[in-house]
Amino acid sequence: MTATDATRALAAGPGGAAPPVLDLQAVTKVYGTGDTAVHALRGVTLTVERGDYVAVMGASGSGKSTLMNIVGCLDVPSGGRYRLDGLDVGGLDERRLAILRNRRIGFVFQSFNLIPRMSALANVELPLAYGGVRRDERRRRALAALAEVGLADRVRHEPNELSGGQQQRVAVARALVTAPTLLLADEPTGALDSASTADVLAIFDRLSRSGRTLVVITHEEEVAAHAKRVVRLVDGRVAGDRRRVPVDAPPPALGASSTGTPPELGGLREGPR
Ligand SMILES: Nc1ncnc2c1ncn2[C@@H]1O[C@H](COP(=O)(O)OP(=O)(O)OP(=O)(O)O)[C@@H](O)[C@H]1O
Ligand SMILES: [Mg+2]
Repeated sequence: MTATDATRALAAGPGGAAPPVLDLQAVTKVYGTGDTAVHALRGVTLTVERGDYVAVMGASGSGKSTLMNIVGCLDVPSGGRYRLDGLDVGGLDERRLAILRNRRIGFVFQSFNLIPRMSALANVELPLAYGGVRRDERRRRALAALAEVGLADRVRHEPNELSGGQQQRVAVARALVTAPTLLLADEPTGALDSASTADVLAIFDRLSRSGRTLVVITHEEEVAAHAKRVVRLVDGRVAGDRRRVPVDAPPPALGASSTGTPPELGGLREGPR
């Protein structure tokens, strides 16, 4: 058992019930000080269980990206407490936060954030390289991730040789290749046309169906319609929290149309780390 496994086991308590993936208690974030201080988050309390698929919506400036940065351990709260997988993030130094990000969270951004002049395959391998995974294992897992997002025939292409939708699918493969606890996306379809949006949402649906936990920040009702739960932020506070289907049910889009064996992402299922 590693030290982190031990921490998780302790956090799970004597009953062994897994802690929520996300547990935010009265989280605040203030940028700046004095007269120019901006209260971006004003006490956000939010828990997300394993397997949930949450859309976070809200007007521009309501605090969505601030929340994503805190949830993703890219920034720390000004106040309150945040636990990721039962681990109190507040006490961690920058080095341990970086390890936590690499192991537990897969990020997808509006602007893809792929490395130019590097093949799709090399881009997807990157988080595994940081994680110290051996070269042949990296290759095998990156190829499997690219196949799962339907890009097996594009692995040698560089980002500028791919459409926006294909680039975002590479980014999704890169986010998943480490088998993270949480897939965290900020406006993942904001730069995509409607066909590419549908591709990415179909991938998210399948990931959710296979048990993965997703938190997706979006302006678009169409994107939120795929989530099991919709959280609305207004002025740095949770102003609405609507569950559309139970955590352990398939996501709404798949639930409505499922007619038999659900599509599974065998190679990318969440497993013990
Ligand atoms: N680094 C920063 N320094 C100062 N103020 C900031 C900083 N980042 C965000 N803010 C402010 O915090 C508030 C919340 O910003 P945030 O980026 O979280 O909003 P958002 O909901 O993601 O908006 P959008 O939909 O436009 O992306 C805004 O008033 C913004 O101006
Ligand atoms: Mg934002």
